[in-house]
Amino acid sequence: MDSSQLKKIAEEHGTPVYVYSEELLIKNYRTFYSAFSKRYSKVKILYAYKANASLALCAILKKEGAGADVVSGGELLTAQKIGLAGRDIIYTNNSKTKEEIAQALDADAVINADSVPDLLKIQKTAEEKKKTAKISFRINPGVNPKTNAKIATGLKESKFGIHIEGDAAYTAYKTANGLDNIKITGVQTHIGSQIKEAAPFTEACEKIMEFALRLKKDLNLKLEYIDLGGGLGIPYQEEKIIKPDDLASAIVPVVEKWNKQLNYEPALWLEPGRYLVANTGMLLTTVQTVKETPYKKFINTDAGFNTLIRPAMYDAYHRIENIGREKEEKTEKYDIAGNICESGDLFAKDRLMPKTMPGDILALMDAGAYGYSMASRYNARLLPAEVLIRSNGKYELIREREKLEDQYKYQKIPKDLL
Ligand SMILES: Cc1ncc(COP(=O)(O)O)c(C=O)c1O
Repeated sequence: MDSSQLKKIAEEHGTPVYVYSEELLIKNYRTFYSAFSKRYSKVKILYAYKANASLALCAILKKEGAGADVVSGGELLTAQKIGLAGRDIIYTNNSKTKEEIAQALDADAVINADSVPDLLKIQKTAEEKKKTAKISFRINPGVNPKTNAKIATGLKESKFGIHIEGDAAYTAYKTANGLDNIKITGVQTHIGSQIKEAAPFTEACEKIMEFALRLKKDLNLKLEYIDLGGGLGIPYQEEKIIKPDDLASAIVPVVEKWNKQLNYEPALWLEPGRYLVANTGMLLTTVQTVKETPYKKFINTDAGFNTLIRPAMYDAYHRIENIGREKEEKTEKYDIAGNICESGDLFAKDRLMPKTMPGDILALMDAGAYGYSMASRYNARLLPAEVLIRSNGKYELIREREKLEDQYKYQKIPKDLL
């Protein structure tokens, strides 16, 4: 971390500001991709835009060869804006609107159906548009990913996908198989996020591959791809977490084992989000005041949970550095507070930090994933700016900070109230 450059960015573009490293992003992508591609010949990485859909980051990943896993019309448009072809986009959502389905059909993206009613809606829209929808189904394999309950999606009670248990998923494929305007292309699952071990992934993979075999035997279906979703975690707190290499060496043998019975080799699709972007980004915020009460010492910052919601929403831990004082001894215990009018708006509790003064710049580390993409305008605050440190060491603004006036752009006061 180059403290003087970060301070310069904060001075020039103000805070709060997200700062990303192009070099790290490329490194993460290559690490992830090569872990799989050296073990399996047909691998496709579809970056999960929900982690961070900033155009510049998506463009860097596209240049590296990544496709897109998108979950809304907005993310789909982002993928189109950076020039991704439909074959490199999968659109997943449990509650698609007709307009979003039409948009995905026009883009020629793969549409990942969440249920039979969803399939029928896709079919109807495709029929009206005289198009053929390329579809897969999102399968719920009933696997516990052993992660935060809010980001566990493969549990039996989850709202996502069709259960593999019983005949639900099988019946869905059987229904789709006979339909006009529908082309079955693959099978997809995503069991959760911030997963630390390989076992939940291999368990899900076994179930999906067994299911693919059933589709082959009973319906004579040959799938183009098996999409195992995203979910690989990162060590926010230096905890032990498997690496892409561990993940690939656990999953690929399972795929290969079942391929022998399948008698064909589907492509392996993966949808990493967090792993690719989390550690490439930090959030810079300026200390406004340092306050002491009889019980606590507070550092008050100019960011809030509207800027980075992970600590408030998931009790997530982010390392926090005081820029320029990183090397000083951590001698004081602080609660690090945001500027949102809610007592839950804390980035850290009882955190040991160097003695901190107003005007200091703090960096909330590993904020590249689910940071900006989950930011909001709560308390009529502005969405922050984003800056990219390029591989050549220079930095560029990739998103301007909103202006206060922007919030009135789409609002109207009824005439009689004026
Ligand atoms: C369908 C789907 N794919 C991929 C991801 C990316 O997950 P992660 O960021 O944990 O890799 C998510 C995240 O929730 C998801 O819902």
